[in-house]
Amino acid sequence: MSRHNLPIQLNSENNIIHCLEIQTLPLSVIEALIAEAAQFLKKYPDNLLKKITVANLFFEPSTRTLTSFSLAARKLGATAIDLNIPSSSTSKGESLIDTLRTLAALECQYFIVRHSDNGAVTKIAETIGNHVAIINAGDGSHAHPSQALLDLFTIKEHFNRFDNLSVSIVGDVLHSRVAKSLLAGLKTVGIKKIRVVGPKNLLPKTFADENITVYHELEAGIKEADVVYLLRLQKERMQDGLVPSFDAYFNKFGVTGERLKYAKPNAVVMHPGPINRGVELDDVVADGRQSLILKQVKNGLYMRMAIMSKIAQHRADIPTCR
Ligand code: CP
Repeated sequence: MSRHNLPIQLNSENNIIHCLEIQTLPLSVIEALIAEAAQFLKKYPDNLLKKITVANLFFEPSTRTLTSFSLAARKLGATAIDLNIPSSSTSKGESLIDTLRTLAALECQYFIVRHSDNGAVTKIAETIGNHVAIINAGDGSHAHPSQALLDLFTIKEHFNRFDNLSVSIVGDVLHSRVAKSLLAGLKTVGIKKIRVVGPKNLLPKTFADENITVYHELEAGIKEADVVYLLRLQKERMQDGLVPSFDAYFNKFGVTGERLKYAKPNAVVMHPGPINRGVELDDVVADGRQSLILKQVKNGLYMRMAIMSKIAQHRADIPTCR
């Protein structure tokens, strides 16, 4: 929430003007983004953003998010720059906000920001003012809204509905920005059967949401699920002593072809990437007929186009060719 106690990412008509988190996005906005992404998958306006410049500022590594935002901007006709953070003046101590102000002075209008600090991207949006659009590409363990939106798009595209689906999220829910955003998005679209599955020390003890139940056994946690969503096991969890070894994790929570049979026969497997083969899942599952992992990557391109397009639609100060 902003200092005015309103979600800063929405205007007074509840339209999206920044994309900072999914928790305060109304269902109408999520549905509109999914519809726009589905439309762009068929055909997109290749000059929609031709008058704007998009700056990607990634203070943490990325393959999917950085590349798909960069390509999405270019496909819509924008100029896109991917600031090389290690060789930028941030290495001389220039602050995040001064970096953005400098690039805004160079007429960048969109900033796609990934940062290790929880809340850093919202803070930028609150500080820099509404003459530019800020999009959160992942901040700390707080939020990854474009990932959750592309995941919802992928689920909707595959099943053609959200009603009566059972979704199991397996892994490090406690520290995962992907899980936090996905859980919020699943709730908004009305999914009522949500299970989180993993070791006790990688799951929150309780959830305020009555639709979420906690499991510590994989087989029971994915039984009859429609969607088995696997989270990446981060190496630092082993360094923190929360996981004894990758092998131990795989033995208990790794999804194999045999274990996937506990889910529904036509269940799908999703993962935000990057995947750890032999840790969260084996090759048979990663590359099998039930895997939507590369579909998620592809849909990310079109969802990120939709996010940039919808923001431009609701901002008179961002020039488009609509
Ligand atoms: N899912 C995701 O955020 O992947 P990247 O870190 O490669 O962007």
